Amino acid sequence: MPRLFLIFALVVLVSFQACYYDNEEELYPNITCNTDNIKYSSDINAILTARCLSCHNAASASSIGAGINLEGYNNLKVWIDNNRFMGAIRHSAGFSPMPKGGSKLPDCELKKIESWANAGFPNN
Ligand code: HEC
Repeated sequence: MPRLFLIFALVVLVSFQACYYDNEEELYPNITCNTDNIKYSSDINAILTARCLSCHNAASASSIGAGINLEGYNNLKVWIDNNRFMGAIRHSAGFSPMPKGGSKLPDCELKKIESWANAGFPNN
């Protein structure tokens, strides 16, 4: 009998542990990542501020940002129009993968940018 109890306890323990690997984004990818109606002024600007502008703002661009200023829509648009922006964040061949020194943007952030790109990169 005690052996059976041990096995039971082990099964319970293992199934509880499995719960720790569940996370909302993996369980409900479409619920937590809203790619509708993406706006430059809120969504895109927030992603760039968090991930890119530390190197690519007006002040830092000349020292650590390779002279690339992505601050504000008009500056960003230059790098969209010359096709370097999407290639860099998609980590496409032939581009410097961005953010530099970090891993690729989280899936949901990339999806938001792709959705904004599909809408024609509006200044909204
Ligand atoms: C730690 C500083 C740093 C961060 C953070 C950073 N960059 Fe860069 N970025 C650079 C440097 C330096 C270069 C010049 C190329 C190189 O050194 O790889 C560059 C190059 C680029 C280029 C030109 C790429 C090409 O292949 O022509 C683009 C576009 C760009 N960055 C966009 C971004 C975006 C968008 C983000 C945020 C998702 C970002 N960068 C985050 C430093 C940074």
